[in-house]
Amino acid sequence: MTEERISILVADDDPFVRAMLQEILESADYAVQTSDDGSEAFRIWFASPESTDLIISDMNMEKMSGLELIRQVRRYSGAVPLIILTVNDEISVALEAIRSGATDYLLKDENIQETILISVERVIEKDRLKKQNLRLMHELEEKNRELAASNRKLLDLNQQKNRFLGIAAHDLRGPIGGIMGLSEMLMEEGAGKISEDHETFIRTIHSVSKEMLLLLNDLLDVSVIESGRLDIRPETDDLKALLEKRIEINRFAADKKKIRIQTDFSDIPPLSFDAKRISQVFDNYISNAVKFSPINSNIYIKLTQENDFVRVTVRDEGPGISEEDRGKLFGEFQRLSARPTAGESSTGLGLAIVKKIIDGHGGKVCAESREGEGAAFSFLIPFT
Ligand SMILES: Nc1ncnc2c1ncn2[C@@H]1O[C@H](COP(=O)(O)OP(=O)(O)OP(=O)(O)O)[C@@H](O)[C@H]1O
Ligand SMILES: [Mg+2]
Repeated sequence: MTEERISILVADDDPFVRAMLQEILESADYAVQTSDDGSEAFRIWFASPESTDLIISDMNMEKMSGLELIRQVRRYSGAVPLIILTVNDEISVALEAIRSGATDYLLKDENIQETILISVERVIEKDRLKKQNLRLMHELEEKNRELAASNRKLLDLNQQKNRFLGIAAHDLRGPIGGIMGLSEMLMEEGAGKISEDHETFIRTIHSVSKEMLLLLNDLLDVSVIESGRLDIRPETDDLKALLEKRIEINRFAADKKKIRIQTDFSDIPPLSFDAKRISQVFDNYISNAVKFSPINSNIYIKLTQENDFVRVTVRDEGPGISEEDRGKLFGEFQRLSARPTAGESSTGLGLAIVKKIIDGHGGKVCAESREGEGAAFSFLIPFT
């Protein structure tokens, strides 16, 4: 396929210059149209602007000067490149031409035969790059629009997913709670009346339904939090007493693994927080420490005041957090390299919920650890 030739419109009232330019340009394979005056050149260009790739114009012509031609053309198009030729070697003339919209300025001297081709090539290349740039910018704008539209769609789908998750978790809680309650009743009333095998089945039904209920609660939390409906109800409360109570509740699981819980609690001024939600945070920190630690190890829990914050830290002697896992902590469904050491359940939702709850309190979460040397998870809540 042969490429279409670049077409140049030349305006000059000197027939000798016109003929010379035409010859030079045609020998360089440009298509050339000529005119002996600015106004005729303007008419030719105006009749079919898209068929002219470049205008070369003399400065002084009788009916319409080169400057006037530039101004007229620029009223309609900023795009077509324009080279002005002049015999006048004054910087002010060049400046005036460029200011009026000329792309380049060339002196009609004895070197014109060489300089014209260099100038034309430079201007055409500049024009090509400008058009390419424009095209790329349009493409970019188009892509940005597409991206924004698909982002809106994704947000919408995510909201739908949260609504669905919320409805499913909510509606399943009732029946699963029923199964748990009934199995509890059967365990109590059936004791001694049914076979040992059947008692084992019922105990399994009971513990599995209890786990399912916990999972449903977490899923419901995720859906509530993600849809922005997490509401924190802070009230002035005794954080130290709350931590002590939660430790007692978690002690049973720790004892089973011969894990000792040691505390170091400072006295802190009264503080406002949502007790139910902070219990959830603390429970997850302790249950993680118990879950991922080896049998016969220690957990250290510390409560301190740090400027305008209170800091609670749960440190363990488990496997710690690997460098690779560090960036994934506190994300949803992140079950990382540390695995439960006694077959406990692990969904990978706890820390994501923790972060959202602490964010909701205007606080911060952090985890420090060297692999193999245990982990220390903290949360800070402000005194405001
Ligand atoms: N104290 C810890 N030591 C080592 N790894 C931990 C510790 N706490 C959490 N992790 C790692 O981070 C992951 C995410 O913890 P997260 O509490 O979110 O989930 P989970 O405990 O596995 O499940 P869930 O809390 O939903 O029951 C864990 O699966 C574990 O790999
Ligand atoms: Mg957890």
